[in-house]
Amino acid sequence: MKTILVVGGAGYIGSHMVKMLLAADYYVVILDNLSGGYRDAILGGDFVFGDIADRQGLERLFSGYSFDAVMHFASFIRVGESVQNPRKYYQNNLAATLNLLDAMVTHDVKTFIFSSSAAIFGEPQYFPLDEKHPKQPINPYGLSKWFIEKILVDYDQAYGLKSVCLRYFNAAGADPDGQLGERHDPETHLIPLVLEAASGRRESVMLYGQDYDTPDGTCIRDYIHIHDLCQAHLLALEQLLTGADSTAYNLGNGTGFSVKQVIDVAKKVTGQSISVVMGERRKGDPAALVADSKRAQAVLGWRPKYAGLATIIAHAWQWEKRYADSTMELDNM
Ligand code: UFG
Repeated sequence: MKTILVVGGAGYIGSHMVKMLLAADYYVVILDNLSGGYRDAILGGDFVFGDIADRQGLERLFSGYSFDAVMHFASFIRVGESVQNPRKYYQNNLAATLNLLDAMVTHDVKTFIFSSSAAIFGEPQYFPLDEKHPKQPINPYGLSKWFIEKILVDYDQAYGLKSVCLRYFNAAGADPDGQLGERHDPETHLIPLVLEAASGRRESVMLYGQDYDTPDGTCIRDYIHIHDLCQAHLLALEQLLTGADSTAYNLGNGTGFSVKQVIDVAKKVTGQSISVVMGERRKGDPAALVADSKRAQAVLGWRPKYAGLATIIAHAWQWEKRYADSTMELDNM
C-alpha cells in the first residue's frame, strides 16, 4: 500500500482528495494547520496538526513516515487579499512550500502533485487557454504559484523530484454523496454565495461588474466539479508513481459561463428566488477564463463525469441545504 501525504487535507479540495485516495486504497496522512480547513472534513487517514512553515515539524513528520508521494493543497487563495497583503502569500505559498520541498529532497520523496492555478496566466491572450499560453501573472497569488512551477523544473533537473502541476480553473460543487462541500470563511466564491442567497443564509449576492467585454457584460468562468478535479489528481499521481515525467495540465471543462448564467442556472436548480445586488467590478478579475484541457484528457485519460453546470450546482445545493438546515436546528435550540 502506498503512503501519500496530503498537505491541506482538511480544506475544500484536499478533503475531497483524501476521501478519493482512501477509496482507492492508499494509506493517507494529512498535515493541516486548520487555518482554512475543518477537522470534521477529514474522513479517514492519520491526521497531523501542523504547518509547513515549521521546518522541525516537517522533519519529525518525514522521519516518522515513509511517503511515496506528497500532494500539496495548503495555500491561500484570495487574489484580492494577495494584492493587499503579498507577504502572507509569498511566506506561505512560496517560502513555506520550499520547506516542504526541502523535506522531500532530504528524505528522498520524489513524487509531488502541486495545486496550481489559472491565475499563473494573467490576462488571457487567446481562448481557450492551453498549457502553452504565456504565463504573466498579474497578482502575488498567481506569481507565487508560477514561482513554484518554475522551481519544480529546477528540482527535477537537480534532484530528480518529479511533479505534476495542476492548474485549476474554477473548482466548484460538492461531494456527490453529500459528505463534503465548500466551507470558506469568509466565503468569496460565486457558487456558494449564490446558494447561500437561495437558502436564505444570506440576503443577497453581489454581482461584480456588468460592463465586461462579454455577451451579457458579466465575467465568464470555467467551472469544474470537485470530483472531476480530484479524479485528475488521482490519475496524475498514478502516472507519476509508475515513472512518468514531470508536467503540467490545465483543468477545466472548456465551457465558460457568465455570472448571470450561473445565477440563472442556480435559480432553476434550487427553485428559489435569488436576490442580486449590482456592484462594481472586483479588482483583478479578468473578463473571461476558459480552459483547454485536451492534454489532460489525452495523456491522463481524464474524463470529467460531472461536466454540466446544473449538476455542479445541484451537488453544491445538496451541501448548502444540509448546512443551512443544521444552522437552523442550532438556531432553534
Ligand atoms: N463574483 C461575483 N460576486 C461574488 C463573487 C464572485 O460577481 O460575490 C464573480 C467574480 O467577479 C468572478 C466570478 O464571479 O467573475 C467567479 O468568482 P470566484 O471568486 O468564484 O472565482 P475566481 O474566478 O475569482 O477565482 C478562481 C478561484 C481562485 C483563484 C482564481 C484564479 O476560485 O481561488 O480563480 O484565477 F485564485
